[in-house]
Amino acid sequence: MAACSENAEVDAEINDPGAAPFGNFINYYTFNPPENRLSLIPASLLQDLGKNEDNKTLVLDVGCNSGDLTVAFYEHLQKAMTEEGPSQRQVHVLGFDLDEILIKRANQANPFPDNVSFIALDITTDTEALKDSLKQHGCPRFHLCLCFAVTMWIHLNHGDSGLLGLLSDLSSCCEYLLLEAQPWKCYRSAARRLRKLGRSDFDHFKTLEIRGDVAGHAQDHLEKRCGMELVQSFGSTTWDRKLLLFKKKENK
Ligand SMILES: C[S@@+](CC[C@H](N)C(=O)[O-])C[C@H]1O[C@@H](n2cnc3c(N)ncnc32)[C@H](O)[C@@H]1O
Repeated sequence: MAACSENAEVDAEINDPGAAPFGNFINYYTFNPPENRLSLIPASLLQDLGKNEDNKTLVLDVGCNSGDLTVAFYEHLQKAMTEEGPSQRQVHVLGFDLDEILIKRANQANPFPDNVSFIALDITTDTEALKDSLKQHGCPRFHLCLCFAVTMWIHLNHGDSGLLGLLSDLSSCCEYLLLEAQPWKCYRSAARRLRKLGRSDFDHFKTLEIRGDVAGHAQDHLEKRCGMELVQSFGSTTWDRKLLLFKKKENK
């Protein structure tokens, strides 16, 4: 497997005539199955999530594509909680994506409509629906937010302020944030891909000031500006990316 997922994504898109300027690949899970990342998340983290006092576990999946990882994560969480013993806990996972066709597919294939839901939403323009969902569940925050393989697409399409805004918005609405940021080499691959396809460059690629160690910059922003702290780094995925777990600091 290529060290950079976007190399695989490049190949996938060259075989796929549709453009995916937001990473909205129609066949994403054929080349990056959910297990690659879920197997890195320890059951103990999931069991801890189940120990909040309101008897509810609310999870947000950012940029959920066709929902395969969202559903697999729900199953993973249920399994970890069952291993802990019988529980009355209610689990709800909300996945959202800006691509309405992917969301339609996710809804059609959803095996757990009572506990997993999908909505179309562009996080750079609308966070109201997330607030509505929290209100509906009577929770002040999502207990966990998954942000896997999305940062680069928002960064390339909305610039440094888009990336930092994303991190700020997510940290303001969750207790834990599990982040998989694409490394810089993937940006170069994505830009090369556009050129190969004869399209114009991403609006912001050349002017980004956040470059190089993107995960390090994200960590810096989350810790210095968003009241979060890094609590664990879970190995590396088969695509050589780390999963970083951040937690809201007390009283933030
Ligand atoms: C490479 S896929 C990753 C899918 C999934 N998070 C995973 O890792 O399995 C990136 C997804 O982010 C979505 N996306 C990109 N920008 C977004 C935005 N501003 N708001 C919501 N979704 C977005 C894309 O449509 C795409 O489905």
